[in-house]
Amino acid sequence: MVQWQSLIYFGLLGISSLVHAQYRNSTQVGSSNCPGYRIIEIQNQGDSIHSKLSLRDQPCNQYGKDVKDIVLDVSYDNSRLRVKISDAEHKHWEVPANLWTPDINYRSKISINQLLEFSYVQNPFSFSVKRKNTGEVIFDTAGHRLVFEDQYLELSSTLPDDANIYGLGEVVDTFRRNPTNTTQTMWARDAADPVRENVYGIHPFYIELRGGKAHGVQILNSYGMDVFLANQSITYKAIGGVLDFSFYPGPDAYEVINQYTATVGRPHQIAYWSLGFHQCKYGYVDIDEVESVVRNYSLAKIPLETMWTDIDYMDMFKDFTLDPINYPLDRVQKFISKLHQDNQKYVVIIDPAIGRNESYPAWIEGVEQDVFIKNPDGSIYIGQVWPGYTAFPDWFASNTDSWWTTQIARFMKDVPVDGLWIDMNEPSSFCTGSCGSNRTGIPPYPWLDPNYKPDIPQTFPEPPYAIHNAYGNLSVKTVSTDALHQNGLTEYQVHNLYGHMEAIATRKSLLSIEPKKRPFVLGRSTFSGSGAYEGHWTGDNWSTWELLKYSISGVLSFQMFGIPYVGADICGFNGNTTEELCLRWIQLGSLYPFSRNHNGKGSIGQELYLWESVAEASRKALYTRYELLPYMYTLFQHAHEIGYPVWRPLPFEFPNDSEMLNNDVQFLVGPGILVSPVLAEGATSVDVQIPEGKWYDFYSWESVSGPTKQTVSAPLNGRIPLHLRGGHIITTQEPSITLTQSRKNPFGLLVALDEMDSAKGDLYLDDGESLQVGKEYSSIFYRATSRGINSNGYFGYQSNGMLKNITILGLKKQPSKVVVNGRLLSTSQFSYDTDKATFIITQLNISMDKSFNVAF
Ligand code: GLC
Repeated sequence: MVQWQSLIYFGLLGISSLVHAQYRNSTQVGSSNCPGYRIIEIQNQGDSIHSKLSLRDQPCNQYGKDVKDIVLDVSYDNSRLRVKISDAEHKHWEVPANLWTPDINYRSKISINQLLEFSYVQNPFSFSVKRKNTGEVIFDTAGHRLVFEDQYLELSSTLPDDANIYGLGEVVDTFRRNPTNTTQTMWARDAADPVRENVYGIHPFYIELRGGKAHGVQILNSYGMDVFLANQSITYKAIGGVLDFSFYPGPDAYEVINQYTATVGRPHQIAYWSLGFHQCKYGYVDIDEVESVVRNYSLAKIPLETMWTDIDYMDMFKDFTLDPINYPLDRVQKFISKLHQDNQKYVVIIDPAIGRNESYPAWIEGVEQDVFIKNPDGSIYIGQVWPGYTAFPDWFASNTDSWWTTQIARFMKDVPVDGLWIDMNEPSSFCTGSCGSNRTGIPPYPWLDPNYKPDIPQTFPEPPYAIHNAYGNLSVKTVSTDALHQNGLTEYQVHNLYGHMEAIATRKSLLSIEPKKRPFVLGRSTFSGSGAYEGHWTGDNWSTWELLKYSISGVLSFQMFGIPYVGADICGFNGNTTEELCLRWIQLGSLYPFSRNHNGKGSIGQELYLWESVAEASRKALYTRYELLPYMYTLFQHAHEIGYPVWRPLPFEFPNDSEMLNNDVQFLVGPGILVSPVLAEGATSVDVQIPEGKWYDFYSWESVSGPTKQTVSAPLNGRIPLHLRGGHIITTQEPSITLTQSRKNPFGLLVALDEMDSAKGDLYLDDGESLQVGKEYSSIFYRATSRGINSNGYFGYQSNGMLKNITILGLKKQPSKVVVNGRLLSTSQFSYDTDKATFIITQLNISMDKSFNVAF
């Protein structure tokens, strides 16, 4: 069994290279000399424009048929300027608005129509968007083609030379995209994190930094698309739909993300426990093994908040079932109650594909309720995933959500998991086409056959313009483009929405089961706006130093996409890790917003306790994470309210510093902590770029003024280099092995004074799990100077927390007394280190639930 499984797993990796070779060429059917459009009628209403455009000349029919009449709609709302070009007859499908949860309360401080101006040229039609105050043009289609055909849309805008473009994902690449040679294809694809190819998620949104300012541009279209950066321009080539652009003025990158997430949906509020450390592996053979992993973490005193199980727990890989031999119900139930008793959590995987099996309730009820995607002839589309031949839920069908909820609820009644991990939802299918339709039995697993060649019948509708899907044909390793949804849409139109819609349905299901709790959903294939419903992990990475490094840009780009709860598989998924790599990975991964060690089947074990050096590094790293969680949780609340990211890219934080624009090997956690991980084998130090301002080594409290470069020692038995930024106050909490316990521990304040001897910070507190907190939260602000520190704000949540220590870094003069809320402290409670200019106040007993004043 084990061997068979690993064969499948390794074979699968091979499949991708096989089909990769099948890459198609675009078939040009007409002339590339396209006439463009001219405006023939225009209606203005305030700032809104509705305009009719017509082809200027004979159609070029380059990749299909030119649409003769198109319309332009320009409008401003609270967060964006929207420019939409669609066909006059509205035959081209558009992503429905109900797939997003916009923040309708958002108001830009200055209204968007005061910030951005839309202009057009009538004939040939082109448009531009400029900043009103400076006149700077941020998007301009003049001099470029506008092609609007039934299966091909093209539009370009001029970019500055060497433009600073970030985003356009999902991709494994540097954080700043290469402006002269980038092809980003938007076609959701199950592929094991290849570099610079299309992978799982679809985020056609970028932020450009120019002259210290930032703006964002997004296109909403679910059809397959290529986005090119080359020749000082950005070019979009889509195989259908409409050109629906949103422009976000910023003026800084965080405001762009604020405006973007106000449009597509704010990141959901996360449960506090989800910030703990998670352990998973594909290939835990039975519940004994899972139990022993939990036990070993506890014996090694490494915090483990959440244990996970991959498809191994299922009966023949069927969702909502348990393997009766290896994961029997009574044992699994006992295991979960013990975990819960110990304040730990349990998450399991589910895949969308439902095994075709006549004695399987999810299948039987799915057929009865007509929830599956269909073949063009109306029969159920049968592809192939882990359970063999499978059908795929059609999230557009009227009964699917309730059927999905029934399956999840029934399963959770027996197996009370704390969250769901939704995988394989590109959707992935191991054969091309409806390979199981009209076939019976267990499918021949193609990857077991060394002579297997993917059979790609030419009948799938492939558009004349071939986007650069790295699998070539669009139907490879997924549901084929001609498969039908209940509302008449084809997969060709909505393929990219599959995972996003599954996340909406899954969150809804969890909410209907436990309406008051924040649901936990982690998904693989995401789309613009998915952060409102789920978190994300960056998929099947590799146990290599290269992928360790790319995990930083991966996490950073998802901060932009409004999915801040994200992480990469710590120690790597595919292949075997090494002790050193795993050690460095947990040092970095302990700071991932979502921190999970996950491993592939057949790879050597990589639980953190397996090597003493890694165990020791993990204890240090994870306890530091837990110490910083009040701060990180506050950052998540800001992300939820205003989109501001949890991890902050250096180029976004220091857009005027040209040395920072390409730096994606360091980053900030929130505004106040600089992280400089070791990313190279054998390295025992890191060359750290210290940005402008005053910084303090997190461990030694020594100060350094930037901008400068420093080599910081980072031996294997040391810690990840961290610097605190002057001007910031970080709330800490003494860590314990679980977060339930940690949250009862005393708090501390770490005050890093800037050159002006001041610092500020804030703290958000609530119960960490209720969906509606109402008034039961606290939002506290801290201000410090060289003469004291005070807090105030809104205190609606009774945390019963106590502030025990205050550490002030950069205090130039030794204070002679300390007065806390009018009461003089004993001199034994504070001390000053002249060399380091550090002042420590201890044994305080100040309530976190009220304002306070500490004067010195
Ligand atoms: C996919 C997932 C991976 C999981 C495996 C088995 O490859 O990306 O995380 O372990 O399937 O379910």
